[in-house]
Amino acid sequence: MEFEALQQACLTCQKCDLCRTRTHVVFGSGSPRAEVMFIGEGPGRNEDEQGLPFVGRSGQLLDQYLAAIHLDRQRDIFITNIVKCRPPENRDPLPNEWDACMPYLREQFRLIRPKIVVCLGRIAAQRLIRPDFSVMKEHGQWTEKAGTFFTATLHPAALLRNPGNKPLAYGDYVALREKIRQVCTHTYPEQRGGATE
Ligand code: URA
Ligand code: SF4
Repeated sequence: MEFEALQQACLTCQKCDLCRTRTHVVFGSGSPRAEVMFIGEGPGRNEDEQGLPFVGRSGQLLDQYLAAIHLDRQRDIFITNIVKCRPPENRDPLPNEWDACMPYLREQFRLIRPKIVVCLGRIAAQRLIRPDFSVMKEHGQWTEKAGTFFTATLHPAALLRNPGNKPLAYGDYVALREKIRQVCTHTYPEQRGGATE
């Protein structure tokens, strides 16, 4: 219930100027009981139109990686972004916009309490792991903070621009599957006591 109240507040938010140009707030999608959270940078055009995260071409690529490690984006994970409203012309979010929006992400963390956080791309990784984080050098590595394991992988939009890097990302998802098996309790069917796939 608290989660729905947070969502309601976010959907009408006017705490930064991105509220003037957005069509829809993109709060996030998936399960509030997920043990794994994926965090991108900010909504793009398709996301702004539909009010849902990662529904454009990058989202389709993300779905392929999720399918490869048997994760369902509605049931098994929660996906959101560092800023919930689309920056005009897909520019990087400005520091004051991050700051204004961060309380929503913080509350999402508090309510979901993920075991694993996957940063998609540089913006999320530098904001959530370390300000000088290099995605090309450090993707797939794990950092533990207060019992939550953080990692970063290449942003799907970057992979669409540089398809040669797709094997690097694939390796990160395989490592993610292993980490889920180690630290999660109900993400995969065998962890829920169900049949293995
Ligand atoms: N890119 C992002 O970072 N987030 C989205 O939701 C879509 C594209
Ligand atoms: Fe509010 Fe975040 Fe949207 Fe800014 S980006 S208006 S802080 S929801």
